[in-house]
Amino acid sequence: MVQMIPPISQPMAGGSTSPIMLATWSFGVAGCTDAWPALTAGGSALDAVCAAARRAELDPTVNSVGYGGLPDATGRMSLDACVMTGPANCGAVCAVAHHLHVADLARMVMERTSHVMLAGNGADAFADALGVAKSQLLSADAKDAWRRWCTGEPPLPSVDAGGDPREHQIPHDTIGVLAIDSQRHMAGACSTSGLPFKLAGRVGDSPIPGHGLYVDPAGGGAVATGNGELIMGVSGSFLAVECMRRGATPGEAVEEVLHRIDHAFHPRAHQQVAIIALAPDGRWAAGALRYGFVVAVADAAGIRTELPQCVLHPQKESLE
Ligand code: GLY
Repeated sequence: MVQMIPPISQPMAGGSTSPIMLATWSFGVAGCTDAWPALTAGGSALDAVCAAARRAELDPTVNSVGYGGLPDATGRMSLDACVMTGPANCGAVCAVAHHLHVADLARMVMERTSHVMLAGNGADAFADALGVAKSQLLSADAKDAWRRWCTGEPPLPSVDAGGDPREHQIPHDTIGVLAIDSQRHMAGACSTSGLPFKLAGRVGDSPIPGHGLYVDPAGGGAVATGNGELIMGVSGSFLAVECMRRGATPGEAVEEVLHRIDHAFHPRAHQQVAIIALAPDGRWAAGALRYGFVVAVADAAGIRTELPQCVLHPQKESLE
């Protein structure tokens, strides 16, 4: 049975006409911090979201994106990404094995080809042809985590770069970023290494327009993070944007997506999905199935994390 969600407990955020950036998870703060000065100096939303993705892709302590990401069940890394500024302007790559900055690569697909998505060897060959340097994607820590997973040893405690326990121990996931620039253009990007220890060949929501990311200037933008199979089942990002295009507030759109996932999947306690929705006028909202998700926000009030306005299953046991 679907539980009634609590009313949105915070007022709708945003609504200003100055630039804004939103990113998933606390590690999104570093990306917003990198990208914000150029965005507020007149830079483009597309440059900003790609810069934020690059920051997470480079960070070895982020175990769900880029270098630092966890490999598939065979120990091989594969990265997925998508960028989008509108229905006729999106690019994506999936199952990239030899190049780190996959959001930039997705942008190159968008800007330099007539296609939307390149996969696997073809995506790596495309990067090679453009002169993008190859990278070794598997970090020593990720390799050790895979070895432990193979042998059934418990994972090492998750710690941040300073050796302190991370603030939220449930798995982090895709970085998804949305931005509006001073020209009122919106862009989004997402980048991920996918589910840890996934079956070789599995691709999730992140690189697929409408699932991990969707932007339509007529409705707004949305990014999703968490269990890709749940997001894909309802075309989560498209659904959020379509709700806004038809008049829903960002908060209503986020709640609709979470309800649809709840109805369809009856998610288990360890399964998390979170959504951020951004309207063309800068109003935004975020929601999650469970506690643990935070939004990185950069706007006229500063750069910070905020809790989602809606948590569908706020019970404590959902942290299991
Ligand atoms: N949301 C990332 C994935 O499931 O691959």
